[in-house]
Amino acid sequence: MRNRTLGLGIIATIVIILNVGCEDKKAVSFVDDNWSDANLVRGGLLYDKWWKINSVAEPTSNFDPIWSSQTTNSRSGSATWRCKECHGWDYIGKNGRYSSGSHYTGFEGVWEARLKDKADVFDAIKDDGGNHDLSAELSDNDVLDLTKFILDGLVDITLYVDANGVALGDTTNGKSLYESACASCHGSDGNSLDFKSDDGIQGVGWAANDNPQEILHKIRWGHPGSDPEMPSMVEKGKSDQDCADILAYSQKLPQ
Ligand code: HEC
Ligand code: HEC
Repeated sequence: MRNRTLGLGIIATIVIILNVGCEDKKAVSFVDDNWSDANLVRGGLLYDKWWKINSVAEPTSNFDPIWSSQTTNSRSGSATWRCKECHGWDYIGKNGRYSSGSHYTGFEGVWEARLKDKADVFDAIKDDGGNHDLSAELSDNDVLDLTKFILDGLVDITLYVDANGVALGDTTNGKSLYESACASCHGSDGNSLDFKSDDGIQGVGWAANDNPQEILHKIRWGHPGSDPEMPSMVEKGKSDQDCADILAYSQKLPQ
């Protein structure tokens, strides 16, 4: 009897020892256990502007120490916490649209991460206690949805937008999709909603030419916090090429 108790005690001790120092194991099991519930569309929206989606307060400080490790992008406050600000709308960071100009940070994209193990991507985003620590701002479910987006939601931008920013799509298919999926809110000419307070109207035609990489992302996933809510074309079952076709037609709208 005494031996049996001792034996159980030893086993319990071993189990405790195995659990301590196995942070990775915990992420693996959380990610594996919940992977089928990961929400791809929500991940795409979080990547754009997470605080509009998870109802956490908009940050007022900078995302340090990472942000202050660069000096080329002079933005401050909440902008420094957006995934897209460092990793790009085209997901290739310093190798893409943000390779120069005011958004340049020199940071890598997340394109290569799509091929990594999902638990490793989860840990890289959450990075509890590290430089990329988002554990106070993002719940494990938020990080899971972002992980899903990185593994399954990225596109190779070179297939859909050329080096001059021209969308590679069929404007005939784009027009019919635009008329059925976009015109009810943005108008047939794209100018029913004015996105900026500048002179004139900055509508869909302007936006699609100004930043095609961003607008392809928004056509696919929606616009976080928009009222009425802009739908995700991926959620509506449209292919990436359909989305590029909508972008190509949008670039032809009056600006
Ligand atoms: C202020 C800039 C910045 C922001 C904002 C940022 N990251 Fe990062 N991210 C980095 C840097 C720099 C690295 C490289 C590793 C490091 O320094 O921790 C990185 C690494 C990563 C990696 C690992 C990449 C790989 O190939 O292994 C992933 C995935 C990632 N970030 C996703 C995200 C997501 C999702 C968000 C938004 C919730 C985000 N990041 C916000 C700068 C940023
Ligand atoms: C249910 C209404 C609705 C539908 C349908 C809709 N949108 Fe939107 N969209 C919005 C709202 C609201 C905003 C935010 C406007 C603002 O910020 O002033 C927005 C924002 C945008 C923006 C501006 C993004 C930015 O960076 O400011 C673009 C471009 C856009 N939509 C294009 C489209 C396209 C293309 C479609 C069709 C695939 C579409 N929208 C469908 C409501 C809609």
